[in-house]
Formats: sequence, structure tokens, C-alpha cells
Amino acid sequence: MGMGASTAEVFARAGAKVVVVDFNTELGQLQADKINESGGDALFVYADISKEKDIEAMVRKTVEKYGRLDIAINNAARKPDAKPIHEMDEKEFEELIGVDLKGVALCMKHEIKQLLKQNEGGSIINISSVSGIRPQPSNPIYVAAKHGVIGLTKYGSLEYSKYNIRVNAIAPGAVDTPMLRTALKEFNLDPVTYAKKLSTVGRFAEAEEIANVSLWLASDLASYVTGAIITVDGGYTAM
Ligand SMILES: NC(=O)c1ccc[n+]([C@@H]2O[C@H](COP(=O)([O-])OP(=O)(O)OC[C@H]3O[C@@H](n4cnc5c(N)ncnc54)[C@H](O)[C@@H]3O)[C@@H](O)[C@H]2O)c1
Repeated sequence: MGMGASTAEVFARAGAKVVVVDFNTELGQLQADKINESGGDALFVYADISKEKDIEAMVRKTVEKYGRLDIAINNAARKPDAKPIHEMDEKEFEELIGVDLKGVALCMKHEIKQLLKQNEGGSIINISSVSGIRPQPSNPIYVAAKHGVIGLTKYGSLEYSKYNIRVNAIAPGAVDTPMLRTALKEFNLDPVTYAKKLSTVGRFAEAEEIANVSLWLASDLASYVTGAIITVDGGYTAM
């Protein structure tokens, strides 16, 4: 859904062979079919990113189908928690961190293993959030996970630049996706007022506006960019 779906389309239009990964088989397969029907080349692979065996299989199936891996975008995440830390639930902590932080680390592990095997460099893009830079109220677990993703990104850049593997993160602001719409409903927030509060431009981002930055980061136009945290937030963190 959301940014992942849009990113798959943007990359396919730019000529990439795309592996769409999700634990929602129906939506993931639909997205891959949509790309194939419009002249692109996509494969759907089921994976729950909190499970290492799924991530291992995700990279293996990618290489089986397309022969190699060049670019990986670690985007999947759970909807943020909605309670302050004094009401935090241990199980929710483990589940959210398991996907939003451990999931990204597992993806990096197996993607980088493959890139090292190929020995031709590569580009990894982690999707963090402005919540990885500045906290929002009542999302302590999500805030911690997204700060963690930024840490993993900087670490990745330090360790793997010598292999020409660039590791960067995007910190999106409020993007109009199912995740945002669900959160607005949950907190009973008016989209128009909220968009003005959360950006200087006064609107939510379209998912494609984030995908376009991933496309640039993955390309040789960004050849000197690594360890960067790029805010794509309509001015939010500048406010
Ligand atoms: N929407 C926003 O305003 C916003 C803002 C900042 C950052 N982000 C981040 O951007 C990324 C994409 O968000 P979105 O708004 O498109 O979300 P979304 O909820 O619309 O889509 C998330 C996708 O991830 C998949 N997914 C969830 N858990 C999974 C798991 N364990 N294994 C495999 N797939 C799983 C879902 O099935 C879904 O297709 C996330 O990392 C999110 O935290 C979103």
C-alpha cells in the first residue's frame, strides 16, 4: 500500500525490474500485476519483514528471478502506537520494534550480504520518518524505532562505503497513505487543519513525491550521497 506501492510504480516506469514485497499477499500480487500489465517487469514475493527466514527467501527469490540485486528500499512498517510511554504495552513494543526496527536491520543484513557477493556496490534506502528526528506525542515506540532506523542508516554508511554500497534514509513528513488516514481517524483529527500544522506548504505529500526522492537516491546522480537523512516533509522540521 501507500509509499511502497507508489515506489514500485515509479521505479518500474524508470525501467527497473521490481520485486514487490509485502505480507499482504492479495495487495502485493495486485500491485505486481498492475506493473506487469502496464509494460513493466515486477515479481511479488511474500515476506513478513519481522521474520528472518522470510527476508532470506525474499533476497533469494529476487536473485533467482532477476540474477542480482542493485537497489533495496526498506519501507514496510506498522502503524504507529497511540499511547504515552506510561501506558505502553510490552507486547506492542516488541511487535512494533520487531517490524519497524528489527525488520529493517534484517533486510539490511540479507541485502548487504547479496551486494557483497556481487561486489559491484549498490544502494540501500531506509524509510524512517520525521518522527525519527523530532518526536510526536503518544508514539514512543514508533519514535524510538524511527530514530533507530536513522542509526542503522548512518552505521551502514560507515561500514559499507568501502564496498561502494551507499546507505541513506528518507524521513517523510505527513504523506497521504492508508497509514496516515487511519491515524487521523484514530486521533479524530481534521485532515485540512492537520496538514497545515504539519508542513509549511499546507498539504500532505503524495506518495509519489517520496518515491521520486528514492529514485534520485538510488541513481548515480546521488553517487556522493551516503549516510544522509533526507527530510521530505513540506518544511515540517524547519518550522
Ligand atoms: N504516511 C505517512 O505519513 C508517513 C510519514 C512518515 C513515515 N512513514 C513511513 O513510510 C513507510 C510507508 O508508510 P505508508 O504510509 O505507505 O504505510 P501503509 O500502512 O500505507 O503501507 C505499509 C505497507 O507495509 C506492509 N507491511 C506492514 N507490516 C509488514 C510486515 N511485517 N511485513 C511485510 N509488509 C508489511 C503493509 O501491508 C502495507 O502494504 C513506513 O515506514 C512509515 O513508517 C509514513
